[in-house]
Formats: sequence, C-alpha cells, structure tokens
Amino acid sequence: MLEKCYTLVDGYRQFDFLTCVRYLNHLGRKQYGSSFSINPDDRFILHKLISYAIGSEERCQEHGIDLSKGILLTGPVGCGKTSLMTLLNAFIYPDQKYQVKNTRQIASEFHKEGFEVIHKYGMREKAFCLDDLGIEHTIKHFGNECNTIGEILLQRYELQVNQRIITHATTNLNADELEAIYGIRVRSRLRSMFNLISFPIDTCDKRK
Ligand SMILES: Nc1ncnc2c1ncn2[C@@H]1O[C@H](COP(=O)(O)OP(=O)(O)OP(=O)(O)O)[C@@H](O)[C@H]1O
Ligand SMILES: [Mg+2]
Repeated sequence: MLEKCYTLVDGYRQFDFLTCVRYLNHLGRKQYGSSFSINPDDRFILHKLISYAIGSEERCQEHGIDLSKGILLTGPVGCGKTSLMTLLNAFIYPDQKYQVKNTRQIASEFHKEGFEVIHKYGMREKAFCLDDLGIEHTIKHFGNECNTIGEILLQRYELQVNQRIITHATTNLNADELEAIYGIRVRSRLRSMFNLISFPIDTCDKRK
C-alpha cells in the first residue's frame, strides 16, 4: 500500500505525477469507498491541482497558476470538486492545510448563531475552503438580509491582501451567476483571490 507520494532528496519533497495520482486513488478509496477511481479524462485538471498542491513553481507557471492565490474549482454537479479539494489537502504543506466547509452548513450556523459566524470564518487566520459557493442561496428558510457568504468572501479577501492567507472555493456557478448572488464587489475581488480551474461542462456526474 502506498504510504506517501514523494521521496525526500536533500530534505526537499520530490513528486512524480503518476505516483501522486496513485496516491490520490488510494486516499479516495479509503475515504469514499472502493468504487473511487481517478478518471483518466480528469488527468489534465489533476495535473493543475496537484502542481498547485505540491507547490511546484515551475509546473504552476506552465499552467498559469499563481501560488499566492487560492483555487476556485468549478464544474458541473457531481464531477468531483468537493472530493478532490478534500483529498488534495494530503499534498499541501502543513501550514497551508485548509478545512473544507460547505456554504450550506455555514448558512445554517448563521441562522443559529448570527453574525459571529461571519467573523469565525471570514477572519480565521488559516487557509480555508468554501465548498459549493451559491448553494446556500437555495435554502429559503435561511433567507436573510445579510449575504453571509458574500461577507465572508470580502473578509477573506482582506486576509489575503494583508496577511497572505489563502481561501479556496468550489462552485457549480460561473462568474455572472456568482455576481448575481454576491454582487459586483465580490466579483471584482474573485480574480485576485483565486486561480480559476474548471472541469469541462461535459464532465460526467460521478454520483451516477
Ligand atoms: N474519481 C471518482 N471516482 C468515483 N467516485 C467519485 C470520484 N470522485 C468523486 N466521486 C464520488 O462522486 C460523488 C460526487 O463527488 P463530489 O461530491 O466530490 O462532486 P461535486 O462536484 O462536489 O458535486 P456537487 O456539484 O454536487 O457539489 C461523491 O459520492 C464522491 O464520493
Ligand atoms: Mg461539492
């Protein structure tokens, strides 16, 4: 069984893409069951995500990825965004590891706990992944005057600018749809917060 995905050379981690993919498969099976299997069609996107997660400046440059920004992983329903963002944590340096938190759960916490929740996530001085941007708006009974996730995004933008603390996110929505939900102030900051990495729109739903 694969115990790790790199070898140490002079104290530096050395990665090899195929070993990383095998390791992801191994972790995916452990976490999501034996039917988990990296789809060969996803290799291109995985190359970008793994390059980012291992912090390879050279590979990231090739892909136009900026390591000082987070990842905004977009794609159709069920293509594997949440699973991948969760599994990629295994490659990330300890001080950059992030919690993956669904926006629906945050909306639910806001409903119970109020504005404190915005500070809890907006000002948390650690990398963080907002999973499923926009989905919280489909929960009508949490409907509130306050745009909870939009406010958190604005606060996390400040964290990035002032303290270089990174935020990641996943979503099914495109930039216009995100703007319709969170407003132009959020949209204008998205580009400087995130590297956009997108699954093609015809990527299969892995729930099927
Ligand atoms: N490579 C894979 N092989 C098999 N199953 C997978 C794979 N990736 C994800 N899955 C499974 O497919 C389902 C959907 O994955 P996931 O929740 O990561 O998708 P998503 O893109 O986040 O979906 P949504 O848009 O609904 O948030 C999950 O049950 C997950 O365990
Ligand atoms: Mg998801």
